[in-house]
Amino acid sequence: MRQMIHDCQLFANRALPTLFLVSAGLLVSACTDNLITRFPPPDVALLQQAQQADPAITMADLDHGRKLYLTNCTACHSAEPIGRYSLSDWQVILPDMSAESKFNAKQGRDVSAYVLSYRRMLAQQSTR
Ligand code: HEC
Repeated sequence: MRQMIHDCQLFANRALPTLFLVSAGLLVSACTDNLITRFPPPDVALLQQAQQADPAITMADLDHGRKLYLTNCTACHSAEPIGRYSLSDWQVILPDMSAESKFNAKQGRDVSAYVLSYRRMLAQQSTR
């Protein structure tokens, strides 16, 4: 019996805080999940795609491009789903909107690298 009470106390002391943290974590990830699935952080496949167009692009550049897309590019409107426009549309939209954002050359290059390589990946996925 003493052992059982001891086990219960152990459960309460150790497991409950863990359960609480796990459920809080789930809640947080449920809230950010949407942006992450709609605009996933760059991975190796995206980097390879970007480097086919510009070998100088790094993972940090793509990450920077994504951050600009989700922050600066949402100053006047919400983040447009990248698949909504064709590659050739984006090639017109991006210089235009980079100017709207008053981006310098590096910012413009990084946001374009993220969006264009992401768009090329979508095009490849849909023809698989
Ligand atoms: C200063 C405000 C402003 C900022 C910053 C801005 N946009 Fe826009 N964006 C607009 C306006 C206004 C329109 C609609 C009129 C137009 O097409 O010019 C628009 C339209 C768009 C469209 C739809 C284009 C179309 O042909 O229908 C896309 C996509 C877009 N923006 C993406 C971006 C991206 C990517 C960035 C960041 C590089 C960005 N915007 C930053 C104001 C802004």
